[in-house]
Amino acid sequence: MSSEKPTILVTGGAGYIGSHACLALKQAGYGVVVLDNLVYGHRDLVENVLQVELIVGDTNDRPLLDDLFATHKIAAVMHFSAYAYVGESVTDPDKYYRNNVVGTLTLLEAMLAASIKQFVFSSTCATYGVPHTVPIPEDHSQNPINPYGFTKLAVERILMDFDAAYGLKSVVFRYFNAAGADPNGLLGEAHDPETHLIPLVLMAGLGKLESVSIFGTDYPTPDGTCIRDYIHVSDLADAHILGMEYLLQGGDTAVFNLGNGSGFSVKQVIETAQKVTGREIKVVESERRAGDPPMLVGSSDKARKILGWKPQYADIQDIISHAWQWHQRRHK
Ligand code: UFG
Repeated sequence: MSSEKPTILVTGGAGYIGSHACLALKQAGYGVVVLDNLVYGHRDLVENVLQVELIVGDTNDRPLLDDLFATHKIAAVMHFSAYAYVGESVTDPDKYYRNNVVGTLTLLEAMLAASIKQFVFSSTCATYGVPHTVPIPEDHSQNPINPYGFTKLAVERILMDFDAAYGLKSVVFRYFNAAGADPNGLLGEAHDPETHLIPLVLMAGLGKLESVSIFGTDYPTPDGTCIRDYIHVSDLADAHILGMEYLLQGGDTAVFNLGNGSGFSVKQVIETAQKVTGREIKVVESERRAGDPPMLVGSSDKARKILGWKPQYADIQDIISHAWQWHQRRHK
């Protein structure tokens, strides 16, 4: 099927955020090709739900990338594929630097060889480390506190240098806490292993887990638990379309935070989940998890102003209830 709009390569399109971006691209009329090594991604989502072309392979595989760019007319690349378990990045940094940094470098080299110069990159608020001011603006200092954050920061740096030297234009999105699921129930979060708060709370609500642990109740926050800025995955997906269109229209390299600008504590998330699900969720208070900043809340004014981005599902209750619909269906 030929589409009037150009075709976008989505790496990591079989993963959580990447699959939602593919759906948004498809709904907006773009052609979509997914490259995913399926280490954490789901073939079924791409082939049966999204019904777009899946190329199984790695961003470290230069011959595969050269062949992909020779056989597909790709206008821009959205790069989601990365390992993203903070704890594992501490115990196995080589895996993270190789995949997240070397893999991205290989992808960028192949793009340049094919004269593709528009790149949308998934970065993270983890590049800020422990912030000295909230809401965090994009020009806040970046001092990651784990290798995962460093891999993302390294790519950000590469992208600035590649623009200066080779004219490769990029939009860097620093996500806060991606959460929720497609409001129509087509897609959702299916990490294995799951480490994120909202899915774990919902799995406890479904009886799939006995309880959920609160990692630390002695943080310098009003209720002692960590505060995060939860952003709906479909709002992230929309931002990617806007970022890509900005680049295709000749926009210059730019960095944007993507968050709602409001923070919720771990206890508030659990209370909201109890309300949404109507289930009693057993909570166990435990030790702090290493490497968790007390509070991460971002200012996304720049994305609103320059890209015209406006989150549609800013309410934490909507975010959790979309995730709940998805988990109920998934664990039937
Ligand atoms: N938490 C719990 N219990 C759990 C799981 C999480 O109390 O079982 C807490 C965490 O300590 C944290 C909050 O819930 O305070 C959110 O934790 P998540 O694991 O859901 O998300 P993170 O904030 O750790 O991680 C997210 C992204 C990462 C990114 C990071 C930046 O998933 O990719 O934000 O800090 F690196």
